[in-house]
Amino acid sequence: MPAASIKKSRILTGIQPSGDMQLGNYLGAVKHWVMNQDVQTNFIPVVDLHSITVKQDPRELYRQTVSLVAMLIACGIDPDKSTLFIQSHVSAHAVLAWVLNCTTPVGWLERMIQYKEKAQNQERVSTGLLTYPVLMAADILIYDADEVPVGEDQKQHVELTRDIAERFNNIYGETFVLPEAVVPKVGARVMGLDNPLIKMSKSYAHVRGHAISMLDDSKEIERSIKRSVTDSYNEIRFSNEKERAGVNNLLGIYQVITGKTVDEVENDFNDARGYGDLKSRVSDVVISEIEPIKKRYHELINNSDELGRLIQKGDAAAKQYADPKLDIVLEKVGLHRNDNTGG
Ligand code: TYM
Repeated sequence: MPAASIKKSRILTGIQPSGDMQLGNYLGAVKHWVMNQDVQTNFIPVVDLHSITVKQDPRELYRQTVSLVAMLIACGIDPDKSTLFIQSHVSAHAVLAWVLNCTTPVGWLERMIQYKEKAQNQERVSTGLLTYPVLMAADILIYDADEVPVGEDQKQHVELTRDIAERFNNIYGETFVLPEAVVPKVGARVMGLDNPLIKMSKSYAHVRGHAISMLDDSKEIERSIKRSVTDSYNEIRFSNEKERAGVNNLLGIYQVITGKTVDEVENDFNDARGYGDLKSRVSDVVISEIEPIKKRYHELINNSDELGRLIQKGDAAAKQYADPKLDIVLEKVGLHRNDNTGG
């Protein structure tokens, strides 16, 4: 096939600015976005509207949002190749979410695993927490994305997005592309270092030794990995057994960073003397991956003019696509923004 006729897939994927980016976000998602940005058309919003579904410190939220933009660029997202922008700056996302709220049955949302988990820990659950996946659907559908690269935990939300799109198409006629979730084969679920049975998450960032933040210093990373939960088998190999989840997780982290196969990874540890060696080698690869990212991040974050310029550029590029798509949707529903009836 001549190169000119190969259609680039269009991807949309988001990340929340609540707290610093952690290693799970990077290995399960961001690293893959970076690797594929030459062969795909990428739309990457920092989803600040999603973050306010749980309480945020208003003085901190915008700082964290800009910090995350800097971190994504430091990780390798190139603003010349990917449209990197702030979700709330493109108001079409929120308007489309409202329209889709009106065609999405509540029962679909109540079934979402993440909603059930998050609702459990709250005294009073906001409507926003319930309709969170509808906003996520709007993020995806407004760019006609055909692929959504995410970690395992977001797969159910992308499947729901397909259902939401299909229902709208059935009611109002063909409007939305049905997107597919793309979950990496390795690293899709980086687990907590303190408890390898739950995924590494920013929500537990306050628990010491749970997560590695992309801004942790080398000593902290070394300490967290050294303290990580393992088992008493003293055998360094991949395993699906629950009791061996800790070692499996450390090997998985090592595998995504080195890009090696399962056999190659296990061979690397043939000469290791116990879990002490495993932990120090995993620390070494994590630190050498994160150090240059941290250095770039600190350079960028001190250049707020440049960051502001890049954000404006991303916002404008996103609006150029999202606004006309919203017009199409609104017209289908009977809401005409570009009213010509005045003559
Ligand atoms: P968020 O901000 O929680 O996470 C961003 C990305 O990181 C992945 N991830 C992980 N992958 C592997 N192991 C982990 N421990 C881990 N923790 C997080 C997530 O799967 C995700 O890909 N609802 C989304 C944000 C969002 C979105 C969207 C995503 C809003 N709109 C539209 C895709 C498309 C979220 O909270 O991701």
